[in-house]
Amino acid sequence: MVAPRALISTTQWMLLITQLCAGWHCTDLEMPDSPIRNLMLDQWKMELNWMSSMNFTEDWCSVTAGDFSMTVMAEDMKCTFGNTAPPLHNGASFSVTAVNMNGTYSTVCRYIPQGINGSAIENFSCVIYNVSLMNCTWQAGRDAPEDTQYFLYWQNSRYDDAMECELYITDENGRNTGCRFQNVRIDVNKAYFLVNGSSKDSLIQFYDEYIRLYKIEILTPPLNVTANCTTDSVGCIITWQPPLTSHVENVKCFQYEIHIQTKDEPKEEEKDPPVRVRSNRYEFQNYNEKKKYILKMRARGRSCLISSNWGEWTEPIEFGQGKDYFIFVVLFLIALGTISVTLLQYCLFKRYCSFKSIFPPIPQPRDKFNISTDENSQTEYASPQNKQLYPGSNCG
Ligand SMILES: *[C@@H]1O[C@H](CO)[C@@H](O)[C@H](O)[C@H]1NC(C)=O
Ligand SMILES: *[C@@H]1O[C@H](CO)[C@@H](O)[C@H](O)[C@H]1NC(C)=O
Ligand SMILES: *[C@@H]1O[C@H](CO)[C@@H](O)[C@H](O)[C@H]1NC(C)=O
Ligand SMILES: *[C@@H]1O[C@H](CO)[C@@H](O)[C@H](O)[C@H]1NC(C)=O
Ligand SMILES: *[C@@H]1O[C@H](CO)[C@@H](O)[C@H](O)[C@H]1NC(C)=O
Ligand SMILES: *[C@@H]1O[C@H](CO)[C@@H](O)[C@H](O)[C@H]1NC(C)=O
Ligand SMILES: *[C@@H]1O[C@H](CO)[C@@H](O)[C@H](O)[C@H]1NC(C)=O
Ligand SMILES: *[C@@H]1O[C@H](CO)[C@@H](O)[C@H](O)[C@H]1NC(C)=O
Ligand SMILES: *[C@@H]1O[C@H](CO)[C@@H](O)[C@H](O)[C@H]1NC(C)=O
Repeated sequence: MVAPRALISTTQWMLLITQLCAGWHCTDLEMPDSPIRNLMLDQWKMELNWMSSMNFTEDWCSVTAGDFSMTVMAEDMKCTFGNTAPPLHNGASFSVTAVNMNGTYSTVCRYIPQGINGSAIENFSCVIYNVSLMNCTWQAGRDAPEDTQYFLYWQNSRYDDAMECELYITDENGRNTGCRFQNVRIDVNKAYFLVNGSSKDSLIQFYDEYIRLYKIEILTPPLNVTANCTTDSVGCIITWQPPLTSHVENVKCFQYEIHIQTKDEPKEEEKDPPVRVRSNRYEFQNYNEKKKYILKMRARGRSCLISSNWGEWTEPIEFGQGKDYFIFVVLFLIALGTISVTLLQYCLFKRYCSFKSIFPPIPQPRDKFNISTDENSQTEYASPQNKQLYPGSNCG
């Protein structure tokens, strides 16, 4: 039982070795006896080192990938490209050149990524939101075998250690199609992302990319937005605080866009075009006491290492007194009052009637001097005919 297992692990080990060797082709045809030998690339440190059989007064390295080319000076038979290196997924060419009094020597090695064409991921993109959260997503290569699984490794800066994704986003087949990051720190240096893949029977090409994290941040809305409309000033003073970021404290780094609409006619965007300011305060001059307004604003970076894309809008903020509305309310209340009073009066009147019918007034002691004339008025209440004169007697 042990033998096959050992065999498998040996084959895997050999595959890894072949993979490494297959991707690294050194052509020293021009100078078959070059003293510069055994070039090696540490892909995570972006460090190139070699061995030499001679002492040199000066040596340097170059890397070329597509249109990109750069040179760094060597130190102790080692060149560190760091954050300035190009992505390697399309292949690259490395060279070491060294000079001494005997002459100039050079060795060139090509880095050729292995794997089947079209198996690398596509459409890789990342976004930072809510200060320190990051999402990266991708799509499986169109020619990747069914069973391909992808893995993301990254370095916040090329001087940090590489870390694997901790929380993959997967599709319905369990294939990784993204990664969620927490506590992301935005560094001055570029971050490096590499997505490689594995499949049972094929080599999968990797994809790598450098990203300046601050450029992909979606800024949070400005904070503590308040509008202060006082009767003694002409307009309204709008104040706020800059959005939260993980890496910049400077208030002067932002530009703001302020959008103010009257509440009743929100479609009229042309009337009050968005205003852009650099300060933390804006005076709204077109203020009309009779109206209510809806305010929203967003921020973006200006200079400093802050995204120059507009961030999220604040929630709509309502301000203004809307005096028209106030007058309307007052009028409405007056009208309501009038109606109530009228109704009350009417009812009281009716009530008075019913009182009369339910508790017929006790005949008052008649004026002794007028008894004769009072006879008629007394009978008036008792007479059933007269009762009918008050048909609404049951009101109240
Ligand atoms: C120059 O070449 C000679 C022989 O080819 C060698 O002995 C000598 O060490 C070389 N000089 C240096 C500085 O390497
Ligand atoms: C290179 O220089 C060191 C001293 O700096 C010396 O010990 C060594 O022999 C030299 N090597 C060759 C090949 O010249
Ligand atoms: C993969 O594509 C590259 C160019 O995009 C081409 O040079 C290479 O021959 C292709 N390899 C295979 C195995 O088709
Ligand atoms: C990548 O995005 C482009 C444009 O949106 C799309 O045409 C292409 O199909 C996507 N690639 C994959 C593998 O889905
Ligand atoms: C942003 O993150 C904080 C904690 O870091 C969380 O409390 C808050 O709900 C998040 N907001 C959004 C909109 O995701
Ligand atoms: C980040 O990913 C999570 C989980 O897939 C998703 O709920 C969230 O909306 C994404 N946020 C952004 C800004 O893409
Ligand atoms: C992907 O890259 C990481 C880091 O270099 C490595 O440990 C891992 O073995 C690679 N995976 C595949 C499938 O090549
Ligand atoms: C926003 O206002 C609250 C209370 O007024 C205050 O505690 C908080 O510090 C303010 N936020 C910022 C970023 O200044
Ligand atoms: C509004 O502005 C007036 C002066 O213009 C000031 O006295 C008042 O405190 C301000 N109110 C708020 C809530 O900031």
